[in-house]
Formats: sequence, C-alpha cells, structure tokens
Amino acid sequence: MACDSIEGWLKAGFEAAFPGNDFSNVRALPATDTKFGDFQCNDALAAAKTLHTPPRKIAEAVFARLEADRPDFIAKFELAGPGFLNITVSTDWIAARLAALAADAHTGIPQTGAGQRVVIDYSSPNAAKQMHIGHIRSTVIGNAIDRIYRALGYGVIADNHLGDWGTQFGILIKGYRECLTQEERDNLTVANLEKCYVLSAAKAKEEDGVWKEACKAELVKLQQGDADNLALWKRFIDISIGEFDRMYAKLGVKFDTYRGESYYNDTMPGVVAKLQEMGLAVESEGALIVNLEAEKLGVAIVRKSDGGYNYTTSDLACVKSRVEEYSPERIIYVTDARQQLHFKQWFSIAAKMGYSGVKLVHVPFGLMSYGGKAISTREGNLIKLDDLLAEAKRRAYDIVKDRGGDEKLAEQIGYGAVKYSDLSHDPITDIDFNWDKALALEGNSGPYLQYAYARVCSLLDKAGNPDLSGAAFACAEPAEKQLGLQLLQFGPTVLRAAECYKPSILADYLFQTAQLYSSFYQRSPILKSEPAVRDARLRLCALFGQVLSTGLHLLGIETPNRI
Ligand code: ARG
Repeated sequence: MACDSIEGWLKAGFEAAFPGNDFSNVRALPATDTKFGDFQCNDALAAAKTLHTPPRKIAEAVFARLEADRPDFIAKFELAGPGFLNITVSTDWIAARLAALAADAHTGIPQTGAGQRVVIDYSSPNAAKQMHIGHIRSTVIGNAIDRIYRALGYGVIADNHLGDWGTQFGILIKGYRECLTQEERDNLTVANLEKCYVLSAAKAKEEDGVWKEACKAELVKLQQGDADNLALWKRFIDISIGEFDRMYAKLGVKFDTYRGESYYNDTMPGVVAKLQEMGLAVESEGALIVNLEAEKLGVAIVRKSDGGYNYTTSDLACVKSRVEEYSPERIIYVTDARQQLHFKQWFSIAAKMGYSGVKLVHVPFGLMSYGGKAISTREGNLIKLDDLLAEAKRRAYDIVKDRGGDEKLAEQIGYGAVKYSDLSHDPITDIDFNWDKALALEGNSGPYLQYAYARVCSLLDKAGNPDLSGAAFACAEPAEKQLGLQLLQFGPTVLRAAECYKPSILADYLFQTAQLYSSFYQRSPILKSEPAVRDARLRLCALFGQVLSTGLHLLGIETPNRI
C-alpha cells in the first residue's frame, strides 16, 4: 500500500470492512501506555452504536483488512481488549516524519484555516478606567487564541470591543468640567478620568438629585450629538486607547480594530426594528423584550423602557456588521464567565434572526484571585495592570541580574511568567495568582520552559551550531523515541487547542515535552558521543527547541536564547 500515514491506512481498513459508512473521524491517538505500542485507535468502540455491531466484532473485521494490507512502517499491530487497535511504528518512519517536521515552514501546524476568516473579540476593557489585574485574563487568553488561529492559516481580525458608550459618560463629562483642576484638564490622563468619575459618581448619589440630573443632561446632549460633549467623549476615548496600547505593547498584543460599542450606535435602531418585524421582540412594561423562556434563557431586553439600547442590542448590531463586512467562518468572544447568560441569550436571538452561517463561540473564563484573596477594591488588591507588570519585571530582574541578564530579559521572563501562569490553566477554572509559582524555575512555569529553550540554544552553541540538515534523527533509544513521537504531536495539539479554545492544551503539551526532553537529555550523552550519534541527537534537540519556541510564541511568550 502506498499510504504513508497511519490514519490513511486505518480509514481505508474501516471503509473496506464496512463500506458506505463515514470514517473520516478515525484517529490514531498516542498510546496511553507505551507497553501497548506507540499509537492506538479506539474507533471500533466509537462505531459500535452506528453499526449496531459489538465493538470487538468491528475491530476483528477491520483488523483482518488492515493486517492484509499492512504497510512496512507498521512494525507491530495488535487487537486488544474490547476492540482497541494497538500500533507500533518503525523507527525509520519516526525519523522520516521528524525530518519532514523539521523542514516544514509551519512546524507541522496544519493549515486548516486557509481561506477562512475568524473575528476574535477580546480584552475589550471599559474606557476611562485603568486596566487592572482583572483584565489580564481576557487579554492573555484572547491573544493566545488569536495567535493559534493565525498559525493555522486563518485570516484573523482581532477586534477590541471597548466599552466606550453608556451612562458613565454623563458622569464623566460633568465630573471633568467641575471636579478637576485646570491643570488636570490640560494634562488629562486615564488616572485623572478615573478620579473625576469617582468624585462625580459620589455627588450623583446626593439626596437632592441635582448632580445626578445634570449628569443625565450631559449624557442626553452627548447622545444627541452636541459638539462639545462629543469632542470631550472622543478625547476620553483617545486617551484611554493610548493608555491601553501602552499595556498591549508590553504584552505583545496587537489589534486590527478598536470598534467599541459606540461604533454600533447608528445601527441598533434598525436591528430592533427587524426584531419587531420578525415578531421576535414584543413590548413588555414599556420595554422591548425577546422571550427566551422556551429555551430556559429567560427574557432579554433589547430596548429599555427609557428608549435606550443595551449590551444585548449592541452585540446584535455588532454581529450584523461583522458578518456583512468580513463573512467570518466564526466569531470568538473571550469574556469572564459571569457573562455566559448574556452570550447564550443573544446567540439564540442571532440564530433566530438568521445568522446561522457563522459559528458564534463564547469562551468564558473563571475568576482570578491574588494571593488567595478575591480581587476587589474592598480587599485593597485591585492592582493596576501596569503595576503588576512592573512588579513582574522587578522580580524577574532579581533572578536574572546575577547571571548578567538585562532589563529586556527581565521583561521577557517576568511578562512570560504572568502569561503562562494564566494560560497553563483551563480558561474556565478560577485561578489564584501567586508570584512564587509564576516565577519558579522548576515545575510548570513560563520561566522553566524559557530556560529549557535557552539550554538547547547553549548546547547547540557548544556544539558549534553545525548544519544538521543531513543528519538522521535519533529515535532508537526509548527516551529518544518518546521525545520524537511527542514532537510529532505538536501540529495536532495546536489544532486541538484551537478547536477547544483552550491554550492550556498547548501549555500542557509543552510542559510534557520539556519533561520528556529532560529525561532524554539525562539518559543520552550528546557531545561526547561518536559523530553520527552526536549529530542525530543534536538534531532531535534542535527540533525540540524549534517546537518549544514556536509553541511558546503561540502563547505570546518570548524565547530568549540565553538566560
Ligand atoms: N466591555 C465588556 C467588559 O468589560 C466586554 C465586551 C466583550 N465583547 C462583546 N462583544 N460583548 O466586560
């Protein structure tokens, strides 16, 4: 048989044994235990239901077909238990696959997204406030998903859906005019905006209600397009974006667009009119609602009783705009888990409105606490993102300065540590940020992986950076083979991380790979071996470095050559 892929061979066997059925999902998974082989196929068990046949019977039929047409690279093939197909491949095959991986411009990442677009909506902080530690998750998780989708060949539009409209702007405008000094107004910063908001919001709580009414009046003027208020609003937004960009630059995050909620102001009335026309939205106590009780999603307001629109309306107008402008294959929203109902509600409304060609995905993430305490103003640990990053850099500098590391290295390690401590967890879990864990040089941390990469670089340096492209790959020894097989899983792992929207799948993989590398490194002498073995092992090391570095970059983590 001409087939050189395990999956191609497996699929052909299933199809020959059970013609007319769809076996496009048949997979060769890494074996759960090396004593059974290198790969296992569990699809006979999966097919039992559709084929109305006991799994063992299916496996026997498929096994017979496969055995009759077994390619040379399958060194051992066994049927086991209730219907597992256990596969051991030849070392030649592993070596050839590793060579192909090393030569591949995408390091084995399948280009499944080619020709397709995806919009990723992440970070999306509210304007006129400083970013704090709570904003890190959407930014870091969203950016990793962004990088992963780009690596798969998707055309990604990273959109920062800023909270740049709403009642807070009435309070801000009034506060700007009356709670700030002339000097503060002239040198307006986000910190000053935050200050005037706090002062003005406090006054709006006064009993006589005079301040509150004045704030409302400013808001109405803004909504009606008053030139002065619009100019002020624009200034607040520009200053906010400038400040956010300063954080994004540190984090290596770039957006293609910054379309905040306000971008959809003019299209919201049309969306609501369409909902009414379609009979989806009905009046209720002065408001306009969409009843989603049948789906157990309660009721979604799309126009408030005062005539104003809300978050749901703006997301509906936003999806319309994105679909019309980009025709994306999917749109991914990364926000905290408390917004789950909001997304379920409006996804359901969007489906009823006919937006069914686009896959709408909400990636919810859990809460972050800091040193075991919830992050809140009351706990006194509402740390500014700027301060958190400064502290990360300072702590990393303490670690690297004795090794001759500079500020740049301290940033790479400090920021990488902050990112990895988040990305190594499944987004939905609540996480606790802990400096010692984040910056540990041992264990599952960013610095540990960066350090592993730097050690590979220094090993190659020591070897004189030889051209290894002609060398075979080492995979005869068990530790070499384990590492080689693991490296071959890089592409499939990136794809799985994308499909599950979990950068943590990639982080776990990189950590496991680094552990396999370290056991290979401990067992196999490299520089002291005779030349052919030395080069074969060095080539495996170099490929590990390439995979590790590519993987860390997909998580937004830099890989310095020296630590
Ligand atoms: N600004 C919102 C917040 O701070 C997040 C917006 C998320 N994106 C969206 N299209 N709803 O929570």
